[in-house]
Amino acid sequence: MGNMGRFHADYLLKGEVAHAELAAVSDASSKSLESYAEQVAVFESCEEMVRSGKIDALLIATPHYFHTVQGIDALEQGLHVLTEKPISVHKADCERLLAAHKKPGQVFAAMFQLRTDPKYEKIKKLISSGEMGEIVRVNWINTDWFRTEAYYASGGWRATWKGEGGGVLLNQCPHNLDLLQWFCGMPSKVRGFAALGKYHDIEVEDDVSAYLEYPNGATGIFVTSTGEAPGTNRLEIAGSRGLLVLENGIISFTRNEKDMRKFCEESKIGFAKPDVWEVDIPYADTGAQHKRITQNFVDAIRDGVSLIAPAREGIRSVELANSILYSSLIGQTVELPLDSKAYEEKLKELIAESTHIKQTREVESDDFSKSFSK
Ligand SMILES: NC(=O)c1ccc[n+]([C@@H]2O[C@H](COP(=O)([O-])OP(=O)(O)OC[C@H]3O[C@@H](n4cnc5c(N)ncnc54)[C@H](O)[C@@H]3O)[C@@H](O)[C@H]2O)c1
Repeated sequence: MGNMGRFHADYLLKGEVAHAELAAVSDASSKSLESYAEQVAVFESCEEMVRSGKIDALLIATPHYFHTVQGIDALEQGLHVLTEKPISVHKADCERLLAAHKKPGQVFAAMFQLRTDPKYEKIKKLISSGEMGEIVRVNWINTDWFRTEAYYASGGWRATWKGEGGGVLLNQCPHNLDLLQWFCGMPSKVRGFAALGKYHDIEVEDDVSAYLEYPNGATGIFVTSTGEAPGTNRLEIAGSRGLLVLENGIISFTRNEKDMRKFCEESKIGFAKPDVWEVDIPYADTGAQHKRITQNFVDAIRDGVSLIAPAREGIRSVELANSILYSSLIGQTVELPLDSKAYEEKLKELIAESTHIKQTREVESDDFSKSFSK
């Protein structure tokens, strides 16, 4: 019942998710439970809540490492589970977590709410309908995740190898990395450059540039930072049928009249280029994305509707984050699928060798929703 737990509890208590009732909440800190005690059952132990018989489904919003242990426990107890992103800290933990999802009819979803954002829905549709042709390049400069020292000091687990297992790639970027793989699939090679504690007094990465290579030869660049203000958020996807750009909330699509590969082969003129059409892609801003994922989770349990973000797809953003960081740490290109054991060993080394002393302090209360209104 930290920032995210309270956020989810708020709309559930208001009855804004049909057919769902908040029956119980749990937190390791009893202080976080005080304001809920009069409304729902409260538990200081998640294990106890899972076995209480009071709940059918669990929404996990604890620090990332606990998603694995609490997820496995709840799945083994037969509960439906919706976990916050990232589904786990590293790929080996994702594999353990997903292996616990065995019971027929048991629903296991992940909170990738940006998949319900209308602008990203439109981009997904443009790609999967074949409108963009074959993807040849994707660039995402995603440096508008600015965070202050106070943010990092607000929780002892934050930005430590032991408590969080990574930095900007694992905390802020899971949504972007999920969308990247949702749009373009998984790369086959990754070369990452991740600076650790470049802009903040932290031991994990806060500034990253990565080069990605896809099985069809397409290339990608992903850049992110929590130290840059105002920062940029510009997504460019080049397909053989045109160029899509998303920036400042506007999607523009410059569509080649003829597939550029075909044009290249067939044109008799050296400097000719395909003619283009400028296409505006309007979309309605519906907001309330987290609630849509929670509603979809409930509908999947009750009516068997398809999940927007099945947990099994959550391993991909973790694998991307791990691969970028691993490549940077070993100074080499990493081939995917990532060797999950090798990465887990590397992370254990980082934890064992950590000498950074984490300073925490009370921070002024803030509008938490600013952290995900993008
Ligand atoms: N989907 C989104 O938009 C979004 C946004 C922010 C955070 N998140 C995710 O939500 C999760 C929580 O982030 P947050 O910002 O709310 O963190 P937070 O530090 O505000 O809250 C974490 C809470 O977990 C409690 N806790 C710690 N260990 C526990 C344990 N073993 N059992 C039970 N409770 C425990 C803490 O006491 C705290 O109240 C993270 O995984 C984060 O990535 C998702």
